[in-house]
Amino acid sequence: MKILDSKFVKGFIKMADDGYHQGWHERNGGNLSYRLKPEEVESIRPRLMNNEDWQPIGAHVPGLGGEFFLVTGSGKYFRNIIVDPEACLAIIELDEKGENYRIRWGLVEGGVPTSELPAHLMNHEVKKRVTDGRHRVIYHAHTTNTIALTFVLPLKDEVFTRELWEMATECPVVFPDGVGVIGWMVPGGEQIAIETSKLMEKYDVVIWAHHGMFCSGEDFDLTFGLMHTVEKSAEILVKVLSMSHMKRQTITPDNFRALEPRFHISLPERFLYEKEEGPLDDLV
Ligand code: 13P
Ligand code: ZN
Repeated sequence: MKILDSKFVKGFIKMADDGYHQGWHERNGGNLSYRLKPEEVESIRPRLMNNEDWQPIGAHVPGLGGEFFLVTGSGKYFRNIIVDPEACLAIIELDEKGENYRIRWGLVEGGVPTSELPAHLMNHEVKKRVTDGRHRVIYHAHTTNTIALTFVLPLKDEVFTRELWEMATECPVVFPDGVGVIGWMVPGGEQIAIETSKLMEKYDVVIWAHHGMFCSGEDFDLTFGLMHTVEKSAEILVKVLSMSHMKRQTITPDNFRALEPRFHISLPERFLYEKEEGPLDDLV
């Protein structure tokens, strides 16, 4: 099958374009990766290149040995993906040890996979293990409102989760495990990848302070929908905090508990703490 006609390639391109139109991908901001299914690899194998050199990943991901990924290229603009996917995207293959990759398709004008490849692959490795292989998509975007919140809220998983949950009743249903937050770090390296993948053991959403967000999911719709829901909630919180530091009324811990049987979710009690004051009150 022609690579550009494959359903997974079309879904990838649509998701990237949807993200661009949300305003999450200024310039080359953000990156996206998808772990191919074995039958998808077989359907395109005759059209893959075989002559590119192996390159170090910059991380060690033995749990992904031999897997194929569709990824965005480093420095490529999301707004150009829909018009020239072969220049902006790559299909890469990992070696059996999960230490090197080689390009099998794409990046026809040159280039390399996203600089966040270590974070993507380490997250994929964790999610493949903890979801029995169900998660296949890792998405990084520069989501405006979520970034704005990292300047004013304490950088604590509990505070971000609770404040985002309170902004829309569907939030605890969409991300019942909550969100993780890491403080500012140098992007594009192994260290930030290690910290992010540790949080991916228990969350599907990790916020990078003053930078953006990573989401993991089973398919393009679920992963995009997760990012969209978190960012929408952050937008509401930015609006609320812009009006007042105090909420006159909100969704209470008991309200959240009442959602559990109806939606078949179980919400960790550590997010349902009693609050004396508003979200900004433990600012120093
Ligand atoms: P890349 O262009 O290398 O994917 O980097 C963009 C980015 O968002 C880095 O965090
Ligand atoms: Zn980024």
